[in-house]
Amino acid sequence: MKKALVIFGSTGNLMYKKLIPAIYHLIQQGHIGEDFMVYAVARRNQSFDDYIEEAKNQVKISIDWTHFKQYINYRVLNVDNIDDYRRLNDEIVNKSYNDVSIYLATPPTLFPLISKGISQSGFINKGEKHKRIVFEKPFGEDLESAQSINKELWKYFDETQIYRIDHYLGKEMIQNILVVRFANIIFEQSWDYRSIQAITILAKEEEGVLSRGGYYDKIGALKDMLQSHLLQMAALILMDKPKEMTSDLIKDEKVKIFQSMTFDQKDMLLGQYKGYTDSEKVDRNSSTETFVYAKAYVQNQRWHNVPIHFLTGKKLNEKRSEIIIHFKDNHDLNLLFPQSSKVENKLVIKVSPKEGVEFKFNVKEPGLTNNIHPAILDYCHNCKALENTPEAYERLFMELLNDQPTLFTRWDEIEKTWELVKSMKSNSQPIVYNSYEDLLNILEKKEVLIDDL
Ligand SMILES: NC(=O)c1ccc[n+]([C@@H]2O[C@H](COP(=O)([O-])OP(=O)(O)OC[C@H]3O[C@@H](n4cnc5c(N)ncnc54)[C@H](OP(=O)(O)O)[C@@H]3O)[C@@H](O)[C@H]2O)c1
Repeated sequence: MKKALVIFGSTGNLMYKKLIPAIYHLIQQGHIGEDFMVYAVARRNQSFDDYIEEAKNQVKISIDWTHFKQYINYRVLNVDNIDDYRRLNDEIVNKSYNDVSIYLATPPTLFPLISKGISQSGFINKGEKHKRIVFEKPFGEDLESAQSINKELWKYFDETQIYRIDHYLGKEMIQNILVVRFANIIFEQSWDYRSIQAITILAKEEEGVLSRGGYYDKIGALKDMLQSHLLQMAALILMDKPKEMTSDLIKDEKVKIFQSMTFDQKDMLLGQYKGYTDSEKVDRNSSTETFVYAKAYVQNQRWHNVPIHFLTGKKLNEKRSEIIIHFKDNHDLNLLFPQSSKVENKLVIKVSPKEGVEFKFNVKEPGLTNNIHPAILDYCHNCKALENTPEAYERLFMELLNDQPTLFTRWDEIEKTWELVKSMKSNSQPIVYNSYEDLLNILEKKEVLIDDL
């Protein structure tokens, strides 16, 4: 079956930074071949050669452009003009591409308009097989806008044809969460409030907003990171075992977690890094948060009273995304080994930039002593890969082209996560931070588990 991938917004940062490199790697590795074509679509009136010249300037990886040009076209399309959609659809149909994915790498405000054009021009008919439409995140800017976008989309497409991206779900270690949990009896049997003290989910960045101030200032850390990536990680960590590993059954379990999660308002901390309001395209009086700390609980039997700490932000001390499971103290430790200081068991799932799993446990110190000290089992996931582990977008493209929706988010997941963010809405102004230390000092007073942060 000949496959076409039509990308709207292909003069944007995402196309050059992530999508072209991912597609190129898949071609190089033979995962997609001669029966595949990318239609790069944008409003700029320029030739294919001009587009490729611009791409050469913007794309950061080394590409054999002569080879890559066989797999990509550029088409100018005005998103308001139905004839432009029809012309492109006719071309794709005439060239016998009968498996078509439409990818919207545009601002979310354009999702309803482009969806309407796609539907009215006959690109995708409701319920049609081998036709699908992909939406980049964020899906909406709040609960109400997400609901309104989705209502429009359901007029034109079946839920099975809609793929909503959260690229974290394409990351190797995010996919590894369910394997680590359910393929290892030692973890699954102690995966509840009786053994686990607390869970920390963090995504720290060193960089500021760079050139994305225009987008970021309208959204902020809470909506950009917590509503999507952090809550998705939490759901995979907290959900019950699905009856089978099918897309819908996994999503059903994730939704149950979102439904029973509550945030503790009084513990929330919002911050804005010093100098943020001087960034390009950022409002000089902006009160957008670039840092969030929040604490949640899940009101079910398994997670009774276990705090889940979320932390994310820009201009912090390091780039690190991790999930940390803190196990409870072993009550017998000091009875049996009174001279020992406590060492908690800890499981760390390292998502980025390092990928792996670390487990901290107690052993006897070597030598003529009975002291106990911590040892760490450290599994490096990317060290085991023969080449680089695949980028998230490579995996997501493969799943998309093979009609596999597991790594994409279903509407009820999006709706519930926006409801959670709405419930956290706070009128408090973010505090301005000079450094990460400033934030840690405040968190210390809130008795957050500082040693991991
Ligand atoms: N960049 C990232 O790292 C990243 C990461 C995750 C998610 N995303 C999401 O991916 C999407 C695209 O992001 P981006 O960073 O690539 O944005 P961008 O650099 O601003 O590019 C957006 C694309 O949409 C087009 N566009 C904007 N307004 C338009 C309009 N009114 N009519 C027609 N075309 C229009 C732009 O065309 P012009 O070039 O002609 O303006 C460009 O091709 C966004 O939803 C974003 O949230 C991006």
